[in-house]
Amino acid sequence: MTTPSTPIDMTTVKKEIDAMGLPSVGLASIRELNRIVNNIETATGDRFIRMEMGVPGLEPPEIAVNAEIEALKKGVGSKYPPFDGIPELKQEISAFVKNYMDKDINPVSCFPTVGSMQGCYMAMMCTTRRMKGKDKLLFIDPGFPVNKNQAMVLGAPFENFDVYEFRGEKLRGKLESYLEKGDVAALMYSNPNNPAWICFTEQELQIIGELATKYDCIVLEDLAYFGMDFRQDYSAPGVAPFIPTVAKYTENYILLISSSKSFSLAGQRIGMTAIPDKLFNSDGDNLKQWFGTNNFGYAYIFGAMYALSSGVSHSNQYGLAGLLKAVNAGEYNFVEAVTEYGDRAGAMKKSFTDNGFHIVYDMDEDQKIADGFYFTIAYEGFTGEELVEELLYYGISAISLTTTGSDRHEGLRACVSLTGKERFPELEDRLSRFAADHPKGSDFKIINS
Ligand SMILES: Cc1ncc(COP(=O)(O)O)c(C=O)c1O
Repeated sequence: MTTPSTPIDMTTVKKEIDAMGLPSVGLASIRELNRIVNNIETATGDRFIRMEMGVPGLEPPEIAVNAEIEALKKGVGSKYPPFDGIPELKQEISAFVKNYMDKDINPVSCFPTVGSMQGCYMAMMCTTRRMKGKDKLLFIDPGFPVNKNQAMVLGAPFENFDVYEFRGEKLRGKLESYLEKGDVAALMYSNPNNPAWICFTEQELQIIGELATKYDCIVLEDLAYFGMDFRQDYSAPGVAPFIPTVAKYTENYILLISSSKSFSLAGQRIGMTAIPDKLFNSDGDNLKQWFGTNNFGYAYIFGAMYALSSGVSHSNQYGLAGLLKAVNAGEYNFVEAVTEYGDRAGAMKKSFTDNGFHIVYDMDEDQKIADGFYFTIAYEGFTGEELVEELLYYGISAISLTTTGSDRHEGLRACVSLTGKERFPELEDRLSRFAADHPKGSDFKIINS
């Protein structure tokens, strides 16, 4: 086959890839790929369909912006905030958890963190030091690669497995094979899942909850995409359906809620942690050497939070409190504000599948996965590593699932957030050119030519 001309100039793409000097562009981290694509765009003047990074593509809510400006004008900027949050924010976080998850958690143990990223870090730090002999983390993958970096920075040992083959009742045996060893302090997953956008079923959450109680393991439930399973309408405060959570099935959990995607506040770096009263007030037998106290909640706030950042920027807390107040009162529908991502995913998935790609993680047991912030794709004959690089010639960037702890090495994660409807025709055109250049059964690859 003669080498086709590609939507993005082939020589320039090759040159920019070589210039980065990476051992494999297909296994580049999100930020490295981001850099290569920036360089190609600058060199060619062509715009990519950028699907490599999970950044919100919507404006921050005006209510939050105004509430923060008001607080700044009142002079909060000169004063230290309480480590565990201003009282009005703690109250609103507690009400938010009640309204959307139907769980009663005392405002005392609801607090802001510097992004839910810091919340994840603190949760790992405190749970892996809580009990003697329990220092390990278990990641139910695929997952957010940075969480594993956090475990490494902390020096916490961890294990992981890809849940693809262990959905439904099969999850019980798989989880138990790790937990029965007795050394797992905490297990972590995101729900909806980054990168696969799978969502655990009630049955799976129940299994996780029951085993967490049985083995005294804390579930770190990362709700970075809170309310964004658009198959159900979770938008009304205080009424069913409520957002599925392991909290229904155990008291051994920590909720990590991000404001970045659901509230389009990524730049503000403010997230929320909620710890049930029983766990917050409990004592570990190994915390004192690290935090000066064996009380879990005290260690969390006056040990971990004090040492890490001594709270979250003061004005930012007022911004989030203002937004949550409106959300809790039913005056601001945060779900409706982000359904755009689901609409985009529906259309973009169709473009990929119409052009010979398939969705890798496609089902939640017997239900099709939701359309949301991410989806996963593969193309027959390509490994994920190869496909990342091949797609660069077609002006499309996405990351390999291999970097996420997935066993599905053929797949890529694609994020919809930066691709507005106006670019759908361009995506369709590039994908149809890709399909034409890579007919099924041929082993032609530009990266090998
Ligand atoms: C699964 C998961 N957890 C945590 C985060 C980080 O959230 P935040 O921006 O609140 O720190 C992200 C962001 O992409 C994520 O995907």
